Amino acid sequence: MVALARSNTFTPVDDEQSAFEADVLKGLSQQRKRLPPKYFYDAVGSELFERITEQPEYYPTRCEMDILRKHGAEIAQLIPAGAALVEFGSGSNKKARILLAAVPALAAYVPVDICGPMVEQEAAELRPDFPSLNVLPITADFTQPFTLPQEALEAPARVGFFPGSTIGNFEPHEAAAFLRNAAKTLGPGAKMIIGADLVKDAEVLNEAYNDTAGFTEKFNLNVLVRINRELRGNFDLDSFEHHAFYNRERQRIEMHLASLKRQKVKVAGECFEFRAGETIHTESSYKYTAESLAALARGVGWEPVGVWMDDDCRFSIQAFSLAEPKR
Ligand code: SAH
Ligand code: AVI
Repeated sequence: MVALARSNTFTPVDDEQSAFEADVLKGLSQQRKRLPPKYFYDAVGSELFERITEQPEYYPTRCEMDILRKHGAEIAQLIPAGAALVEFGSGSNKKARILLAAVPALAAYVPVDICGPMVEQEAAELRPDFPSLNVLPITADFTQPFTLPQEALEAPARVGFFPGSTIGNFEPHEAAAFLRNAAKTLGPGAKMIIGADLVKDAEVLNEAYNDTAGFTEKFNLNVLVRINRELRGNFDLDSFEHHAFYNRERQRIEMHLASLKRQKVKVAGECFEFRAGETIHTESSYKYTAESLAALARGVGWEPVGVWMDDDCRFSIQAFSLAEPKR
């Protein structure tokens, strides 16, 4: 786990910093202001996400871990001996641990995350418990091309693991692009194991994103703290409010930060005006069905090969196999 105090000192490298600045300035210049959700995950944001997963209202983590505990052996059968397991958006290692305990010997386990301190520390904590496993963490943005370590490239096959319903934080066309890129990264014979939250009752969803302890609110507001610190912003945190609600038509939770008054905010030398009630759309969390995710994946060359759900059908783990290219 990454400690809050220490994590605040993490400063990204120049390229990441300028991408952050460009994305924030672009997002705040839109008629409907928005920010890409990947910027939630500085070290403080990653720690706040971990707190969210412990809240009684936030069922997805518990459900996914239940599925892994119950069906881990069957899911692990998709992973050939000697393969490399590549986890996208690994965050905490708690889900990987359950899967790794069930898989045969691997050439490597490659956790990939945008949050450098988190992925390094989680890897360091995993190694003593899996001494014969080659743990090769990568700090990277998985929406951009990145190169796998040699050990993973030389393995007879690569299997992707994308838990947490992080796929739901993409717009559907971005999810398709991610899966297309993942196919290229993982190569021929690849498999992909995806955790996806399921469409359900709005009340359960609304509660999950409005926990009474307020960790989701802190997580949402932390992106403004990060902009203030890293991009010379002057957001007044007390004049923005956390809003999260289920948009039934689009089958997604929307998270926003709503301005409580008319105000001007400066970021990286540029000025942005807010009307009272105007929001920044900070995250969507799309909910899928087995059918809707299968259709999306099929469209970009992944064939569904297995679906597992918890007893209450709240969450799913879905497996896909890369279709052979047509001759
Ligand atoms: N897999 C964990 C964490 C999910 S939270 C779980 O299931 O509980 C989402 C994770 O994805 C965070 O660790 C975050 O840092 C990472 N992430 C989000 N966007 C990313 C991106 N574009 N590239 C790489 N990692 C990303
Ligand atoms: C990481 N991701 C799938 C979480 C979700 O549920 O969309 C992030 C999150 N946002 C608010 N609470 C949790």
